[in-house]
Amino acid sequence: MATITWTDEILSVNIPSIDDQHKKLIDLINEFYRNISIQSSKESIFKLIKALKEYTVFHFSTEEKYMKQYGFPEYLNHKEEHDRFVQRVLDFEDRYINGKLILTLEITNFIKSWVANHIKTTDRKYSDFLIEKGVR
Ligand SMILES: [Fe+2]
Ligand SMILES: [Fe+2]
Repeated sequence: MATITWTDEILSVNIPSIDDQHKKLIDLINEFYRNISIQSSKESIFKLIKALKEYTVFHFSTEEKYMKQYGFPEYLNHKEEHDRFVQRVLDFEDRYINGKLILTLEITNFIKSWVANHIKTTDRKYSDFLIEKGVR
């Protein structure tokens, strides 16, 4: 798996506004992966980590806002998965800035598979619940 390819069947949560955010997130991850593959400058990679981190935090807060607002029963477990992932990304970023980590395809693979699996399994669990509440 080099890049993540969006397919409705596998990745759609059937909520257009959230699908759009997931597509944007996947674009950022693919761009990050591409830049690691071609060994882009540290500066470009740093910018991409920052963009990826910021967009991820924005996206997670959107989902958490909806789940909390409508009382989704699995909110806390879901948020915990988000928090753990953000912590991992912050840790990569920190070690990268301090020269203690070389970003490898292994790390980008971790990020790619985490996001794809999270959408496929955890995010999809809120679909019916949020659609029922009128989230589009
Ligand atoms: Fe998501
Ligand atoms: Fe999520």
